Amino acid sequence: MKQIETKDNSLTFYNEEVDETYHSTSGAIEESFKKFAIPACDTLNKVKSILKMESISILDMYYGLGYNTLAIIYYLKESLKYTGEIKVVAIEKDPNIIEVAKGIKLDVKEYPLLDEYYDKLKQNKFNVTFFVTDAYDALEKIHSRFDIVMYDSFSPAKKPELWTPEIFRLIKKLCEEYCVLTTYSCARVVKDSLKEAGFYRYDGPKVGRRSPATIATTFEITT
Ligand SMILES: C[S@@+](CC[C@H](N)C(=O)[O-])C[C@H]1O[C@@H](n2cnc3c(N)ncnc32)[C@H](O)[C@@H]1O
Repeated sequence: MKQIETKDNSLTFYNEEVDETYHSTSGAIEESFKKFAIPACDTLNKVKSILKMESISILDMYYGLGYNTLAIIYYLKESLKYTGEIKVVAIEKDPNIIEVAKGIKLDVKEYPLLDEYYDKLKQNKFNVTFFVTDAYDALEKIHSRFDIVMYDSFSPAKKPELWTPEIFRLIKKLCEEYCVLTTYSCARVVKDSLKEAGFYRYDGPKVGRRSPATIATTFEITT
């Protein structure tokens, strides 16, 4: 697999079969923090004080190199100073990409302790449960409930079956009463599928390109 250094100095890969990279080339780690982890936590914090939660449950859909899980654990612990339990369930069909992550070192100025966290993640020192199988299969098998879902499939053009109302309905069934889903895509089909599944949808941050990410919630944001 071809390795690509992105603009924040973190690595990503190019998947030939899908003809897409695993992350934005404008900054792979930046994307994980700014489109997934930070908006998910900050949106949840609007309705539920994260610091008062004994534990927080996160669904990482499409774990890949694990950057989104890494970013959210780092953000919760280092930025929000969250000391409760962080439980992650990660879905990823391809065991090879999880292996590839083991050879990666991260050196990103903005997050000085990131590589230490990444080492711990690779050594299974955080509470991460893996489902190494197809997303639909995994979602049928999971019985936990989640406060946060990070949804990072390859694009709707390349993987239309992963952006359907059906898949978002399966996810919604696993959501806590107050749950936030973040995704990088703002494509019409994504917003329509989320709506059909019963999520409220809001524009997420614009990072590295003009169009915004998407934040979907099980609750209406009134402010
Ligand atoms: C955009 S990448 C995810 C990047 C990842 N979030 C990260 O931070 O490295 C999409 C991932 O979806 C996985 N994938 C593709 N089809 C899948 C499916 N049907 N079920 C589960 N995972 C799938 C791919 O193997 C790939 O790792």
